[in-house]
Amino acid sequence: MKLIIDDAHMDRIKRVYEFYPVDGVTTNPTILAESGRAPYDVLKEIRRFIGDGAQLHVQAVSRDAKGMVEEARRITSELGGNTFVKVPSLPEGFKAMKKLHAEGILITATAVYTPMQAFLAAKCGASYAAPYINRIDNMGYNGIQVAKHIHDIFRNNGLKTEVLAASFKNSQQLLELCEYGVGASTVAPDVIEGLVKNTAITAAVEDFIKDFEGLAGIGKTMANC
Ligand code: G3P
Repeated sequence: MKLIIDDAHMDRIKRVYEFYPVDGVTTNPTILAESGRAPYDVLKEIRRFIGDGAQLHVQAVSRDAKGMVEEARRITSELGGNTFVKVPSLPEGFKAMKKLHAEGILITATAVYTPMQAFLAAKCGASYAAPYINRIDNMGYNGIQVAKHIHDIFRNNGLKTEVLAASFKNSQQLLELCEYGVGASTVAPDVIEGLVKNTAITAAVEDFIKDFEGLAGIGKTMANC
């Protein structure tokens, strides 16, 4: 499972990149708005920081297919290869996806709430379909189950599209999809950092350090004892 950062704040992206094995960055219009910066300024800075090898996902905001296609061309020309254009999974979006796929532009089908949205997007050529786990839960359905259904539908129909699960609020949601082997999950920095925020872990490591210092001296390590 690829692990992607769902954020557009450079300081938070840099912090997560320093410590964790992440594969790229996703954004959406709300996340860009929260950054308070001009869209292409922040997106180009993210691209420069993560490099050409990492995935960057950027959403189109037009209501019609023609506008989505125009946005996708600009997004990929500004931000380079390995940039996925997030296209909403509704009729105008499917129309845009077919055109973009024919042009070789990478697509992430977004705003996925049902398995059949994802199936249609996959048949239109999307590389990823992004079910919104927590938002589905909040509607009284089971977001994890929806993501698993989508994963199974792709595999059972010989589709190459992968799940890119989004909208996580806790570690358990991420664990379940990691265990199931979905293609990718995009997660806010606080949820990524929460994966190892556990006093039992830090206490265990502190005990080892104290025991070693008791043996070899304060400040000593295996490099200088
Ligand atoms: O872009 C989709 C996803 O990032 C939404 O997450 O936390 O706003 O439900 P959230």
